[in-house]
Amino acid sequence: MSEHADFLVIGGGLAGLTFALTAARSGKVLVLTKGSSIESASDKAQGGIASVVSDDDSFEFHEKDTLKAGAGLCNVEVVKTCIQAGPECVSELIRQGVVFSRVNHDVNGAFDLGKEGGHSRRRVLHAGDFTGHEIMQALIKAASDEPNIHLVENKLAVNLIVDTPPSGRPERLCRGVFALDRRDGSIDAILSRSTVLATGGAGKVYVYTSNPDVATGDGMAMASRARAQMANMEFVQFHPTCLYHPHAKSFLLSEAMRGEGGKLQLADGSEFLTAYDERGSLATRDIVARAIDFELKKRGDDFALLDMTSLDPDFLRRRFPNIHESCLKLGLDMAKVPLPVVPAAHYFCGGVRTDQQGRSSVPGLYAIGEVACTGFHGANRLASNSLLEAVVFGRLAAKDAIDWIQRTPSDPPTAPLWDVGNAIDSDESVVVSQNWDEIRRLMWNYVGIVRSNKRLQRAKRRIEMIQEEIKEYYWNFLLSPDLVELRNIASVAELVIHSAGRRAESRGLHYNIDHPDKDDQNFKSDTVIRRTASGGLETVEQDLPYSW
Ligand code: SIN
Repeated sequence: MSEHADFLVIGGGLAGLTFALTAARSGKVLVLTKGSSIESASDKAQGGIASVVSDDDSFEFHEKDTLKAGAGLCNVEVVKTCIQAGPECVSELIRQGVVFSRVNHDVNGAFDLGKEGGHSRRRVLHAGDFTGHEIMQALIKAASDEPNIHLVENKLAVNLIVDTPPSGRPERLCRGVFALDRRDGSIDAILSRSTVLATGGAGKVYVYTSNPDVATGDGMAMASRARAQMANMEFVQFHPTCLYHPHAKSFLLSEAMRGEGGKLQLADGSEFLTAYDERGSLATRDIVARAIDFELKKRGDDFALLDMTSLDPDFLRRRFPNIHESCLKLGLDMAKVPLPVVPAAHYFCGGVRTDQQGRSSVPGLYAIGEVACTGFHGANRLASNSLLEAVVFGRLAAKDAIDWIQRTPSDPPTAPLWDVGNAIDSDESVVVSQNWDEIRRLMWNYVGIVRSNKRLQRAKRRIEMIQEEIKEYYWNFLLSPDLVELRNIASVAELVIHSAGRRAESRGLHYNIDHPDKDDQNFKSDTVIRRTASGGLETVEQDLPYSW
């Protein structure tokens, strides 16, 4: 049985729900989440949303910090658009019910602004240290109250439906998605006049990540299979401070902790970061994560330390209630002992290449939030800029999609059927778990914080073999959520390895020891690739915007 909508949103994080709430004024919106509505990276965001709201700040300062972090690859117009839209987006979130922390808890007082790495001013609006959760609760409530929005849980998107529409128009068009129902295993077509990828990132491609389990790069993999242009997949951000503890499952220690005075140290208590950058513990993440990685490998240490012990214990409890409590449960009192930390994969700066309206290169298909590469982050994202981009592009894409469906003739809702071929139930799930582990470990070891030509070549050979195995398995056995996700992480891994191999320099988050310097003459541009009809990858040279 197939469903159809005016706007189909795949993913229910901040970008997806912002799109849905904006588009709902003009048509029926279907939002699919692969787990429960609340399960998203947005919900886990601790730091906050960066925006210029104080008198000692300006758009120019925020733009300058963003461009500096982005190491020459930000799109200046996109940077201006996002940053200048910041205050209005913050007001909209407040109208939707979000409560940001204020100085002295005075509801009419000034915002209590946080500071994070690379920011020259305090400009991070937060709700304690559970900002993402506060925002998502308000938006889920607003979306649930909106009659034109239908939230559907447990639907895992498998493949985009991109074909020549029944009305006979000549172009390939995205008409929706095949989705797997996790409760009964059925796969159905869901058709829509516009389709939006808001599926988040792909931290699960790496063995150590701050991301939730849902971050398996589904949107990136689906878009690349649909031959959408992909940009800058080599720029993977590693967060410097995930808690190192056997029971912590990569629990994040927000960069806001360093913003409030926390200091990074080596295991012997010595300070080391000023040797790498004069900003010390508040340098940008690329620099801090690389410095930790280098020192740990040099010394054979397992972790570095984040020392908060010089701060007032009452302040720590008030400002970081969630982190404080979580650490206490693990026997760590941050007011008394430095916390052991390691870097972990955190954010993909690359993704589906979009223009300034959030359109992908495939007509009818939008991408917003972490799945997209809009040009805002360049080669390295500035902390807390991602929530801002999610809101700005959620709104921009929705406005464009409203216009798109009005000027595009509506197709009869004729759904293609999912073809199961000769697939049978698999009795060998060990193949899936073995490949899953192998990909995540090879990405960590060969395509992680520090790369080399040899490591990238090894990774390329391994991923080719693994993908062959997955392909065979995929056609012979009935689809399970694990198999869909495995195919997706393999596909994203391939895109990262390929893009990293093409960039023979070091810039932002991409560091290759065989090419340790920035090479502006040859590489001051995005890496743009697309799948070929036969499944390989090719480089694309096409200017934006897209013309559909
Ligand atoms: C953090 O709180 O450190 C994460 C914020 C971000 O990734 O922007």
